[in-house]
Amino acid sequence: MNIAVIGTGYVGLPTGVGFAELGNNVICIDKLSAKIDMLNSGKITIFEEGLEDLYHKNRSEGVLKFSSDIGDIEWADVVIIAVGTPTHPVTKEADLKYLYQAAEDIAPHLKKYTVVAIKSTVPVSTGESVEKLIAKMNPSADFDLVSLPEFLREGFAVYDFFNPDRIVIGTDSERAVLILKRLYEPFEGKTKILVTARNSAEVIKYASNAFLAMKVLYINEISNFCEKCGARIEEVALGIGLDSRIGPKFLKPGPGYGGSCFPKDTLALANMAKRCNVNLHLTDTAIEKNEQRKIDMAHRIAELVPDGATVAVLGLTYKSGTDDVRESPAVDICRELLRLGVALRAYDPKGMNNAREQLKDAVYYAKNPYDAAGGADILAILTEWSEFAKLNFRRVKAAMRQAKIIDLRNLLARDQVEGFEYHRLGEGCLESEKMREQIAPIN
Ligand SMILES: NC(=O)c1ccc[n+]([C@@H]2O[C@H](COP(=O)([O-])OP(=O)(O)OC[C@H]3O[C@@H](n4cnc5c(N)ncnc54)[C@H](O)[C@@H]3O)[C@@H](O)[C@H]2O)c1
Repeated sequence: MNIAVIGTGYVGLPTGVGFAELGNNVICIDKLSAKIDMLNSGKITIFEEGLEDLYHKNRSEGVLKFSSDIGDIEWADVVIIAVGTPTHPVTKEADLKYLYQAAEDIAPHLKKYTVVAIKSTVPVSTGESVEKLIAKMNPSADFDLVSLPEFLREGFAVYDFFNPDRIVIGTDSERAVLILKRLYEPFEGKTKILVTARNSAEVIKYASNAFLAMKVLYINEISNFCEKCGARIEEVALGIGLDSRIGPKFLKPGPGYGGSCFPKDTLALANMAKRCNVNLHLTDTAIEKNEQRKIDMAHRIAELVPDGATVAVLGLTYKSGTDDVRESPAVDICRELLRLGVALRAYDPKGMNNAREQLKDAVYYAKNPYDAAGGADILAILTEWSEFAKLNFRRVKAAMRQAKIIDLRNLLARDQVEGFEYHRLGEGCLESEKMREQIAPIN
């Protein structure tokens, strides 16, 4: 099948590469010609495990092409729109300017029956308005406008492309369903393909992300409680997650959720619902508490060191496996620490360039974790990169001014950090008589 993907970012590139690998002819289009030039010169633009090899393989086989000319969509059977939908500065819903621009750009080039599928995360009924826009711009266009929400996780984009939990196709058009089922034929029998109304598909995406965001907040709250009652969050999370109604994922305590999706999608959902005169109290609370969580974590670090101290920060991306620092809790924690007058020495295996754009010269960008630890009063692990668990902690200790670690990802084992004052999330100790008294049953 011939596929065009509009928008070659964290979703569009893995999607294009993935469909090429499945035997389709794919053209990835982006309005940023510098990005397309780079991809056409053999250099990949983002880091995702396994993506680079597949990109080179399919490019060299001639089934994966890149272009900044929107006219190249004319031969496509399916046009997938994967442009960004960031938070709108005023409405705090999704800003649809890139999406509408993409729709306007493709409209004149729809010359035969085409499925136009929106993979970008968009507010409910956006499909309808994009359909009207294209029809108005090109009344003779023969097309169906489908919602095809994306659920991949950054850091696992390639894995998730080939192993999706489900594929949701939002349309009433049987013709479009037939074509998309053909496209997704390699997944038949392996994953559930759910055909829904277009509006339902749009809501499924937002409702899924808001639910996961709340799960993260919930375990963080329980983690706080464990710290005060002598329980251990890892054991508690394991016990909760073994319940098949709950499941084990997203039950790790941490510094709050981040990334390009959860923060903007929870905000968009809450504001969209308000417009429909519905209050989503749980979502509203999640948004507020997640902001607070990041501030609390920065203060937790600062309280462990004297005024004017130096903090070694390990991890700047919002999670491991990606170079993405958009809405990264690590970056927000750095900002708050800087505001508190702390000096920062930071290191991240993949996110240094992107973090530099956000934190500018306020931070010393270290060459490696040991360089970050140099002269620091505390080492703060903010992202769960597995390489941080493999450090030589004797060398880390020798580099530091004080042997202190705060591990906001519960990445390290206690025996690795012997000789350090070591703090992690969600572990209370019952040594204090006051705590015992406080939690003793009242009858
Ligand atoms: N990143 C994720 O993990 C993820 C997961 C699921 C869904 N989504 C959703 O997918 C969408 C894309 O997210 P992303 O992270 O890939 O964004 P991104 O910013 O990484 O990529 C978007 C790309 O679209 C390009 N673009 C914008 N307007 C264009 C136009 N008119 N024509 C051609 N190209 C254009 C931009 O130059 C950019 O390269 C968003 O709606 C997001 O919410 C993202």
